[in-house]
Amino acid sequence: MPKVIAIYPGSFDPPTNGHLDLIQRGSRIFDELIVAVLRNAEKAPLFSVAERASMLELLTHDYSNVRVDTFDGLTVEYAVKVNATCVLRGIRAVSDYEYELQMALMNRKLQPELETVFMLPAEKYSYLSSRLVREVAQLGGSIQGLVPGLVEQSLKAKLDPAYKLEQYSAGMAGLQGNKSKGRKKG
Ligand code: PNS
Repeated sequence: MPKVIAIYPGSFDPPTNGHLDLIQRGSRIFDELIVAVLRNAEKAPLFSVAERASMLELLTHDYSNVRVDTFDGLTVEYAVKVNATCVLRGIRAVSDYEYELQMALMNRKLQPELETVFMLPAEKYSYLSSRLVREVAQLGGSIQGLVPGLVEQSLKAKLDPAYKLEQYSAGMAGLQGNKSKGRKKG
């Protein structure tokens, strides 16, 4: 049997626990899963493509059959390029279905060989979206438990200048400490 390669395309701005839940489920049923971050010039993202890809790389590090990539243009063309035969997408609620159905059927029209596989994330993430996470974080609400710790910290650093300053001061203090230690030795 040839190995089944799937792509999991999306914006991932930022990656949420719902995305990670789906990646974990996908990694169990596909031989190889490529998490593909769309480089979309039209949108004004919160995190750059490089930032999103590097967060996803760190978050999926433990899955040996998962890798992260970026793409632009048509999803179906990217799938062909990486020899994927499946597109993985998550459906959280009925409200997702219409958009996902449209996309899956359009992708099928463009590339009949490519199958879309829908998976359900854990029900505790069924209301979770990157857009809501961004909004809540931007307005100062708690996003604990909705995104991995790494993403929570990155959101804080991105949105809160005071947090950035705190981190910077802590870094500077560390540097000063190292310098004075170095001097003592010399
Ligand atoms: O996480 P998102 O933003 O819901 O992901 C949407 C995504 C990236 C899967 C979709 O916008 C997409 O496939 N874009 C690439 C361009 C493309 O192929 N468009 C036709 C889709 S039918």
